[in-house]
Amino acid sequence: MKLLIKNGTVIDPATDKPFQADVLCVDGKIAKMAENISSRGVKTIDATGCLLFPGFIDMHVHLREPGFEYKETIASGTRAAARGGFTGVAAMPNTAPVADNAAVIRFILEKAAQSGSSRVYPIGAITKGSQGKELAPMAEMKKAGAVAFSDDGHPVTNAYLMRQAMEYARMLKVPIISHCEDTALAAGGVMNEGYTATVLGLKGIPSAAEEIMVARDILLAEMTGCALHIAHVSTAGSVRLIRDAKRRGVPVTAEVTPHHFTLTEEAVLGYNTNAKVNPPLRTEADIEALKEGLADGTIDVIATDHAPHATHEKDKEFDYAPFGILGLETAVGLIFSELVDKGVLTLNQVACKCALNPARILGLPEKKLQVGSDADITIIDPNRREIVDPKDFVSLSSNSPFNGFTLKGLPVATILDGRITMQDRVPVSTTN
Ligand code: DOR
Ligand code: ZN
Repeated sequence: MKLLIKNGTVIDPATDKPFQADVLCVDGKIAKMAENISSRGVKTIDATGCLLFPGFIDMHVHLREPGFEYKETIASGTRAAARGGFTGVAAMPNTAPVADNAAVIRFILEKAAQSGSSRVYPIGAITKGSQGKELAPMAEMKKAGAVAFSDDGHPVTNAYLMRQAMEYARMLKVPIISHCEDTALAAGGVMNEGYTATVLGLKGIPSAAEEIMVARDILLAEMTGCALHIAHVSTAGSVRLIRDAKRRGVPVTAEVTPHHFTLTEEAVLGYNTNAKVNPPLRTEADIEALKEGLADGTIDVIATDHAPHATHEKDKEFDYAPFGILGLETAVGLIFSELVDKGVLTLNQVACKCALNPARILGLPEKKLQVGSDADITIIDPNRREIVDPKDFVSLSSNSPFNGFTLKGLPVATILDGRITMQDRVPVSTTN
């Protein structure tokens, strides 16, 4: 099977400088990159004015299957990924049943093979049922295909258990992804602690509830030598702790979400439950620190924490609505509008944070746009604008606080294994 992408600008950090080329994909691989490749008899995409990136990987996604198929399924979530420009997603284990054993990991991989519009990399739970009491069978899950371990949604409160998990993970050469939250200090809070929470009469979550656990897990990673990845960093203090740990050579990496680098706690005003998320949206000063962390390499990855919830669940008093924000279909637009256009990140840095680094952290095949590499390509039109309308989402849910935002810089085609999974903002059904 052949596909020709004409007249795009190739962004590949390995080659350092963007360059103009036609890209010919044959049987899932990049077969040729040159100017003026003949398109005779070959299916062609015109990428004039567009940027070609190695296929983006979102390493923090909640696909909700098995168990919560009314919020999202593996089929719908990977279609949302394709529409968002992603060729791969890592699936968090807080499903029902929890992905804490090899059978659930295998189920996810089988479903993804049948109905997936993107690659799916399952993440296994650290503890049985993610209950923080007893370790899950990590070696068995790794053998079945788990790429990392996490109790995301919950912290592992017991430091001794986290130490043991890190020791096993190190032996298995798999990272631990930590949801950093001191639940005692968070104390049932529902948004950032501060002025806005006081005005709204809502209970706040202090920054220290995150930072205490970031500090603890850095110390445990230092002690065990385990690769630690900090999920959804939201505070200036966390950025500082991670920067310092990296300087000292601790094997720690970190991610930030588009909602945390775009929105402040004020998005909650009006009791907007679509802006209720854990960790909560913070302040302007935190956003500045997250951007500095992205720019100086302290933050390695942009991941969405795509967390679908049904309208009837979000349509409640703020205290009772679930935490979570959709991410897959707005991420690239926010990265370009908030980071590229504002000079925070270069295009090479975007390629690193959305493709190369997630692949490296999860131990996946190296991401590049060179002859011989996988034909996974994210094509972005940096000048295309769109007003976000959840009605356009292919996700089964619509809990986005970005409704009505104008985004500039959008994915216009997604290529997975040399096949088109999205073209002109619309997912294309795969032959699977
Ligand atoms: O806001 C969140 N939603 N944070 C989490 O850690 C879990 C996630 C979910 O699963 O809904
Ligand atoms: Zn999450």
